[in-house]
Amino acid sequence: MNKVLVNDQLMERQEAKVDIEDRGYQFGDGIYEVIRIYSGSMFTGKEHIDRLFESAKKIHLELPFSEEILTKKLQELMEVNQLQTGIIYLQVTRGASPRQHHFPDNDVKAVFTAYTKEVPRPEKQMTEGVTAIVADDIRWLRCDIKSLNLLGNLLAKQEAMSKGSYEAVLHRDSTVTEGSSSNIFIIKNDELRTHPATNLILNGITRREILRLCSDIGLSYKEEAFTLDEMYKADEVFMASTTAEVMPLVQVGDTVVGDRTPGKWTKELQKAFLGAIQQQCGELIKTNV
Ligand SMILES: Cc1ncc(COP(=O)(O)O)c(C=O)c1O
Repeated sequence: MNKVLVNDQLMERQEAKVDIEDRGYQFGDGIYEVIRIYSGSMFTGKEHIDRLFESAKKIHLELPFSEEILTKKLQELMEVNQLQTGIIYLQVTRGASPRQHHFPDNDVKAVFTAYTKEVPRPEKQMTEGVTAIVADDIRWLRCDIKSLNLLGNLLAKQEAMSKGSYEAVLHRDSTVTEGSSSNIFIIKNDELRTHPATNLILNGITRREILRLCSDIGLSYKEEAFTLDEMYKADEVFMASTTAEVMPLVQVGDTVVGDRTPGKWTKELQKAFLGAIQQQCGELIKTNV
């Protein structure tokens, strides 16, 4: 099944159309979320929906539904498409109106769309680890908003891909901020560090879950920025996101991390993260991690 949601209507994907004057299409004037589905259930669904409402507030966008209705609609979409392991992508734009930079009148309604996609867990990469490049963080100063404007992120990810890497670790001067589509963590002397949740990063839902799990596994942590040099000298480095979960970085730029295999705390966190998934969504069908 391949149904999509447009506002409150479920329809076939081919029937869904975007107005050429939709402000999301013309300006990237909108926000989005990606929610992970495991065993047919949303993982941290409420946290993602809460963050969508926070992003909406930050760009003065009125959402056309309540959190309860949105949750119900997403549930319906997931069920009708019989999605087991994958994602729900959802976005809201400020609607369609004649092109002008300032916001349209209040009678222009926000446009909501959502669809599902099968996405397996990246098990091989989680087991072996992946490499990252480093790139200048050229983005704007409101990275806390999950905005549709992703050009800065896309340029960095493209550079990573073209060099055969999985991710780009972004930095402002010598300070590491986050990945092009993930948060970045280092571990040195049995202590985890990650950039604090300021305007310079997206406060990832996976990031929050990881910090919560640190206490469970007895790993101390600091939400404190670190430099490129500190990252190069770290015992362990990993990235985290909704689709990549806890993903070990075994080489960053030209620097090999540890012995080029996932570190012991990273593996502990992967295990704890899998436990959290299974607690919320039930047993997973197949996994090596
Ligand atoms: C720039 C950026 N930072 C961090 C994240 C991780 O956020 P989450 O864990 O909520 O997926 C993402 C996810 O797409 C992202 O795009």
